[in-house]
Amino acid sequence: MAALRVGLIGTGGIARAHLRAYRHYPQQVQLKAVCDVQAEAVEQFAQEVGGEVQVYTDPEVMLKEAGIEAVDICTVHNTHAPLAIMAADAGKHILVEKPMACTRQECADMVQAAERAGVQLMVAQCQRYMPAFRGVKRVMESGELGRLHAIRFDAMQNMLAFLPPRHWLYDGQQAGGGIVISVAVHKLDLLRYLVGEVRRVHAVCRTQHPAFINGAEDYAVATLEFETPDGTVLGEMFATYSGFRLPWSEQFMIFGEQGAIYMVPPLSGHDRTMIASIRRGTPAGGWESQFGGFEAIEPEMEGLSGQDNFINEILHFAECCASGREPLTSGRDNLKTMRIVFAIYESARTGQWVECE
Ligand SMILES: NC(=O)c1ccc[n+]([C@@H]2O[C@H](COP(=O)([O-])OP(=O)(O)OC[C@H]3O[C@@H](n4cnc5c(N)ncnc54)[C@H](O)[C@@H]3O)[C@@H](O)[C@H]2O)c1
Repeated sequence: MAALRVGLIGTGGIARAHLRAYRHYPQQVQLKAVCDVQAEAVEQFAQEVGGEVQVYTDPEVMLKEAGIEAVDICTVHNTHAPLAIMAADAGKHILVEKPMACTRQECADMVQAAERAGVQLMVAQCQRYMPAFRGVKRVMESGELGRLHAIRFDAMQNMLAFLPPRHWLYDGQQAGGGIVISVAVHKLDLLRYLVGEVRRVHAVCRTQHPAFINGAEDYAVATLEFETPDGTVLGEMFATYSGFRLPWSEQFMIFGEQGAIYMVPPLSGHDRTMIASIRRGTPAGGWESQFGGFEAIEPEMEGLSGQDNFINEILHFAECCASGREPLTSGRDNLKTMRIVFAIYESARTGQWVECE
């Protein structure tokens, strides 16, 4: 297949992770153009790209002039929908960073625009492209956990420790919310993939630290009901953006009748590896049995190019653009992830259980 010609919009932090795919896989994906509303940011990024790349500060001009087939949108959340719809109307395939957009209507409009134009829309839910989590998927599909009982997960990052004051991620208007839409969305999407759809949620959100404005929550808890072949399974989420000196953690646990899966959080400063463990079989009994018996789950490489999930997702996008196959994390699929996010917010506002329809 010929390399997919891409224009990247938004040359900030995550664009650097995407750049690894363009740098190492030029046969599959060719970065033809880069665009950012900040001229300095885009010039700096173009230097990092090295080689020939066209530079723009206006996405509309890039769409018209750059000779690209696809866009890779890595911008602030409230720009995802307008940029994606503009790209669809210009007949370009779209890869957009998570979260898809800030409202239910925007998400639906993006899917509709892509379908109307006959282009691909894929959301960069990078965790589904991690070998460690593909290993967990393999175990889930094997059925060896037996009947599922419950799921719990964390989304814990202290943004205040590394983002400057007044960063857009603290602003509910630009980010669409706080920790839930920006970070918990990763695990909501991953757990849909691993376990099943979420039927309804009950949630409470709080804003504790004054850095978070315009309704951005820095704490959230939720009860979620997952639909599985075994029936409804109880789920629990705890999320914080500002817990003081907290251990960074996006761990999750899946409890079944015959075993439990446990994703170990990174324990040392430099080790960010996601390691999933499993405990199998009947407990041996006795207090000591609580502490042992964890076995690492082998990562699954089938269908992936390597360990780097950003490279894996971008190559998957290119392959789907060439073949017309629906991406694993298509916009249509992602509507179901975003419905959980918006249901959490609605439940936090109303105090009621909210169906994720
Ligand atoms: N997958 C992950 O693990 C992960 C990690 C971090 C961020 N992200 C996502 O990536 C996206 C970008 O986050 P970031 O941390 O790179 O942000 P960032 O602030 O570092 O960069 C965003 C860039 O977009 C530019 N921009 C904003 N509006 C624009 C517009 N209309 N047109 C062109 N450029 C525009 C800004 O000038 C900025 O340079 C977000 O959706 C975020 O949630 C994903």
